[in-house]
Amino acid sequence: MNILILGSGGREHAFAWKLAQSPLCDTLYVVPGNAGTAQVATNLPISYNDFPAVADAIRDKKIDLLIVGPEEPLVKGVVDFLRNEPDLATLRIVGPDAKGAQLEGSKDFSKQFMHRYGIPTAASKTFTAETLDEGLAYLESHSLPIVIKADGLAAGKGVIIAETVAVAQTALRDMLDGQKFGEAGSKVVIEQFLRGIELSVFVLTDGVNYKILPEAKDYKRIGEEDTGPNTGGMGAVSPVVFANKAFLQKVEDKVVKPTLAGLQQEDIRYQGFIFIGLMKVNGEPFVIEYNARMGDPETEVVLPRIQNDLVDLMVATADGELDKIAVQVSPQTAVTTVLVSGGYPGDYVTGKIISELERLEDVTAFHAGTLVKNGHVLTNGGRVLAITAQANSLENAVRKSQEAARAVRFDGKQYRKDIGVDLIRYAD
Ligand code: AMP
Ligand code: GLY
Repeated sequence: MNILILGSGGREHAFAWKLAQSPLCDTLYVVPGNAGTAQVATNLPISYNDFPAVADAIRDKKIDLLIVGPEEPLVKGVVDFLRNEPDLATLRIVGPDAKGAQLEGSKDFSKQFMHRYGIPTAASKTFTAETLDEGLAYLESHSLPIVIKADGLAAGKGVIIAETVAVAQTALRDMLDGQKFGEAGSKVVIEQFLRGIELSVFVLTDGVNYKILPEAKDYKRIGEEDTGPNTGGMGAVSPVVFANKAFLQKVEDKVVKPTLAGLQQEDIRYQGFIFIGLMKVNGEPFVIEYNARMGDPETEVVLPRIQNDLVDLMVATADGELDKIAVQVSPQTAVTTVLVSGGYPGDYVTGKIISELERLEDVTAFHAGTLVKNGHVLTNGGRVLAITAQANSLENAVRKSQEAARAVRFDGKQYRKDIGVDLIRYAD
């Protein structure tokens, strides 16, 4: 089978690494990929948002299976585009169409959806430029803190947690005036602040059947002890100690089942991953957000724990046959530590030589922002590498991932030294 992955991050390297292990995989391509995917696949230098070019690559390389990594092409309708090409009718695709991707592409849609199907989530109200004054007044009467969310995709920058009415009102005005957020801020969701502990649950569905994949916790802030600005993710751990069996059963019954029933009710044939961001509040799950894809860096701890042939799982998803597969999960703990460029998530420089990678042992270095030039692996993004270790205990997985994170060298390297440490200390 010839397989194409869209994307260029650590998530896509993890997919490529796992797919390449399958005897069912003949040739693997990544659009556009990075220095890590180039080790296990062929990178194609085209943009994943250039749908006609993607379709041509699918024809040219005789692709049988397509896996879409990031949200942007999903929300922009890459799946719809390809489904409308008559000669690509037999192409298997893992990833929802634009309607399904609205779960991530519009916070207003996803909140209405959750309210419609009784899925536990924070109480919320949506405002537009026309109802700005009502929104400002609403903020004055609401308890603090309060959460302000731009409706559309905002690359992780569309959520403000405001501690004062003034900050909340400024955020609402800024989003609705269209300057900073463009179309993404044409609607704004204002929601109640939930106090609890966060984790992510991943569901793979073929439109009817579903599998719950290993859960993960990610570390979003740049600084240790969860301080400083938000990033794409500085590390992840799977499994998550506080996601015990009873809690995961609640997630399945109160969130996963009604979500899939809701999608069917709305005639959305969703084939792909649903990433459910949850807050555990007094033992109960509340949905913070849906994403229409896997998480990054969560994928770098989730896929290594899945023991199935990933091509099998992806084909079953596209063919509506997930009921025929049992997902086998390793009992080991996986921890990934993300190495980022100095200055990230603000301005940073790229093009720094990365060394010591080839000396790492007993870990997997998933590439995020890297490229190969003149025989050197160079930094090429804010998040550069995600170093995953697996071990029989969380402590050992943390130690192995951290040792490798320390050993890799590039100018300006930064990483968090406390990934997983809260979970070692965690007591229910
Ligand atoms: P989102 O982009 O929706 O995932 O929001 C980014 C982050 O903001 C989440 O990962 C949470 O840490 C936080 N957050 C979002 N919504 C809420 C909420 N209602 N209560 C508390 N924290 C929230
Ligand atoms: N790590 C969070 C995300 O992928 O959205």
